[in-house]
Amino acid sequence: MVVIGARPQIIKSAPIIHDALKDSTIELQIVHTGQHYDFEMSKIFFGEFALPDPTINLGVGSGSHAWQTGKMLAGLEKAMLELKPDVVVVPGDTNSTLAGALAAVKLHVPVAHVEAGARSCDMAMPEEVNRRLTDHCAQLLFAPTEACLRNLSKEGVPKDTIFLSGDTMYDALLQHLTENLDGVLDRLDLERETYGVLTLHRPSNVDDQTRLKNIMRVMMDLDDLVIVFPVHPRTEKMLRAVGLLKDLKKSPRLRLMEPVSYHSMLGLMRNSRMVLTDSGGMQKEAFWLHVPCITIRDTTEWGETVALGANALAEMPERIIEKAKGFLADKALKKRLRTLPNPFGDGRASAKIVHTLKSYVAT
Ligand code: UD1
Repeated sequence: MVVIGARPQIIKSAPIIHDALKDSTIELQIVHTGQHYDFEMSKIFFGEFALPDPTINLGVGSGSHAWQTGKMLAGLEKAMLELKPDVVVVPGDTNSTLAGALAAVKLHVPVAHVEAGARSCDMAMPEEVNRRLTDHCAQLLFAPTEACLRNLSKEGVPKDTIFLSGDTMYDALLQHLTENLDGVLDRLDLERETYGVLTLHRPSNVDDQTRLKNIMRVMMDLDDLVIVFPVHPRTEKMLRAVGLLKDLKKSPRLRLMEPVSYHSMLGLMRNSRMVLTDSGGMQKEAFWLHVPCITIRDTTEWGETVALGANALAEMPERIIEKAKGFLADKALKKRLRTLPNPFGDGRASAKIVHTLKSYVAT
């Protein structure tokens, strides 16, 4: 059983689902918690990734963390009792991940965590809590990088339960680079290398009104760069609440839009001057697409990309401007990014994961 619920989990599990579907000896169940329910946040990805409909959609929806996680937990327990999985696969670090892991471990069903061992060391982030707890419920931990593997060893996770698999988001990206990704530029009337891509959705950035206003001010101040900004529903709500949404929509410097599909986002990122984001996944995707990234946070779970000079942490407005100017001035940067080693595996993480799951269930 693969448990998904939020947008990034669909991307992370799609390569695993496809590898499992190729094997007629595997009976696959997909359970969607319904954490993300908007078309742009969920259904569109099922289409792009050609995924089968979930066996069950719990339709949990939005709410406080405790309410949302609790509701998922009860629904997932029922689903697991009904479908009797041999192993429950939980990707990523969302509330759906934690609910899937907790429901399974309490029923003594083995838990497999995909993207195990990532750490920002910031327990104020809901995702950090989710991923730590999930790792410590899991019997199979698929670490995307060596650094993730070391994090798990430091926390005392038994070595024989950790597998260095590589990152399934990298698998997904390689599988989709063959698609026509650049059509989005025509649709949005954008020229290559003239714009930056911004996404924001972390509570630490968008739920704090002053911070949100400051970040938006910085985006208006970035000379010579149009900012393409697909707006997450949480962020849209907050921009409306602080009375900024209308002005931002009118600004010639900003291009606000609904959340975009996976292909459109890859197309936007790979043709951009830089990515500015607080997303974990986009930091990695920018890295794989050889586009410099500014992470609008003071911590990251993907320190590898910072150490290699492809990603810069910048939480304060002045630092965002300083880093952006530095990236824009460095004409050789993109060329250099192409030469960097990739710590995230060889694009075949999902095959390794499915193979390991099969052997585990068989023994
Ligand atoms: C969740 C994950 C985060 C992940 C992100 C990707 C947790 C704790 N967070 O954050 O790790 O990076 O998804 O997008 O699980 N909303 C809609 N439509 C939707 C979904 C949400 O309008 O389809 C609104 C709701 O009003 C909700 C808010 O967005 O209150 C936040 O949604 P939620 O699922 O709680 O967390 P995300 O911020 O999306």
